Amino acid sequence: MKTKPVKSSPAKDIRSQLLPKGSKFCIAPSILSADFATLKDDIGKTVKAGSRMIHLDIMDGHFVPNLTFGAPLVKCVQKHFPKLFLDAHLMVENPLGYLEDFTKAGVHLVTIHSEAVPNVKRAVRLIHAAGLFAGISIKPKTSIGVLEPILNELDLILIMSVEPGFGGQKLIPTTLNKVRELRLLRDKKGYPFVIEIDGGIDTKTAPLAMSAGAEVFVAGSAVFREGKIIQNFRALERSLENA
Ligand code: DX5
Ligand code: ZN
Repeated sequence: MKTKPVKSSPAKDIRSQLLPKGSKFCIAPSILSADFATLKDDIGKTVKAGSRMIHLDIMDGHFVPNLTFGAPLVKCVQKHFPKLFLDAHLMVENPLGYLEDFTKAGVHLVTIHSEAVPNVKRAVRLIHAAGLFAGISIKPKTSIGVLEPILNELDLILIMSVEPGFGGQKLIPTTLNKVRELRLLRDKKGYPFVIEIDGGIDTKTAPLAMSAGAEVFVAGSAVFREGKIIQNFRALERSLENA
């Protein structure tokens, strides 16, 4: 009798996928600010501008006071852009209840909120058992101490620099202190996780977040603003290259 291969942690490490050849940063366009009626074109423009990944903001109207989209839309994005790295940011209650749906939809990374699960270690292990990269996100008022039990198993930590729920908000400057602290800790102890920042990232704030230690920069309105996607993406990229 043939035994089914057990899906375990993804073969490649996340760093080589998001930050290949020692790149210092990666921009993650959030389609929350895209024009959903022309989504394929909008994502196509980010790819043309050089994007390797797309950030997918999944909201359920309970964990955050907003509703977005679910696995069926993500599946369509995967079908049309099979080479893009899909970064799913789950702002939902009971995120593990949706793990199978998003795994089937083809995402590469599932990031859940520490505030949404009773046991972060168990959650990270379940995401890994599904064969995906695992991320944990914390809201602006949550301290990085909650991540302590799992620092050596995480692929990514997402620091929210605004209260989750809506695009177009202003970055909360104190959240950069958490980025700084985490980066120092990671570099000192050699933890594997990459640091992502999300909320209010634009050409002015991205360089500040980079000097604090962030490596993956989620940007919704700064990329999709006025539909000038290629120009916007390149301007953000330049601001980080010159940081
Ligand atoms: C907010 C979302 C963000 C949002 C960022 O809860 O997690 O990813 O799209 O939008 P901007 O870049 O406009 O702040
Ligand atoms: Zn997000």
